[in-house]
Amino acid sequence: MKAALIKWMARFFYPQITFAASIKQYLPKKNAFTLIDAPCGNGETSWHFARMANATVRGCDVDDNSLGNARRHFSAPNLTYEKHDIRSLVAGSPRFDAFCIINSLYCFPDCERVLSQLRNLMHSESQLFIIVDNIEGGENYRRFAASNSTAPQTAPSSRLPGLTKEEFRPFFESLGFALLDVTPIVYTHSHHPLAGRLLSIFCHFYLAVLNMVQTTFRIGSPNYYLIRLKRAPAAG
Ligand SMILES: C[S@@+](CC[C@H](N)C(=O)[O-])C[C@H]1O[C@@H](n2cnc3c(N)ncnc32)[C@H](O)[C@@H]1O
Repeated sequence: MKAALIKWMARFFYPQITFAASIKQYLPKKNAFTLIDAPCGNGETSWHFARMANATVRGCDVDDNSLGNARRHFSAPNLTYEKHDIRSLVAGSPRFDAFCIINSLYCFPDCERVLSQLRNLMHSESQLFIIVDNIEGGENYRRFAASNSTAPQTAPSSRLPGLTKEEFRPFFESLGFALLDVTPIVYTHSHHPLAGRLLSIFCHFYLAVLNMVQTTFRIGSPNYYLIRLKRAPAAG
């Protein structure tokens, strides 16, 4: 009963509902495609992708607890969960049409190497979606790091050289990507003070609606950016 309720509630978990919606608009509506969501954490976003009947989704993460939660609460027939370190996952040359790295780049031990390997696995139609914190604001990351003992306590910018909004393009182009666009997303903070005072079961609805209003009217600054990348055509 509890598992069924959590699965139903997953449709509204925030900010994953917004992460998924921002990416789904670029995915094929009819043609079959394979999507890898890595790291997938508790699986909420992978589950949103798997609601597309034409998708085959692989959610991958290194953490057993997260994978346990994902398998318990966010299962679907076209969705598999697998244990992989991101480095061994990309070294194994998986095939995919879309690859999503959501709110996790700062966790990667060797992110430039991982990204270069990913780039070499992409065909001309493959899409890479990366959601990163708005590190210029910084508050989002500081709060996340304070509540998550495994996250590096320093801001992501010190691990990802030059990853401020203006510097995304040269960073990704130097790794052989073509940067399609950078979209500000998620205007409402998931640590919004009022949300904590509401019953947690309503908190995700409240945040999703608040986010919709703030995004529509550009109230406040974004907490994340969605970066869309393709493989750059070979020079010459
Ligand atoms: C902040 S969570 C984001 C999860 C998910 N993408 C989401 O948005 O809900 C970061 C995840 O990265 C995973 N992770 C950290 N280092 C990793 C690595 N080297 N390989 C694979 N996963 C890793 C953690 O276990 C954690 O689940």
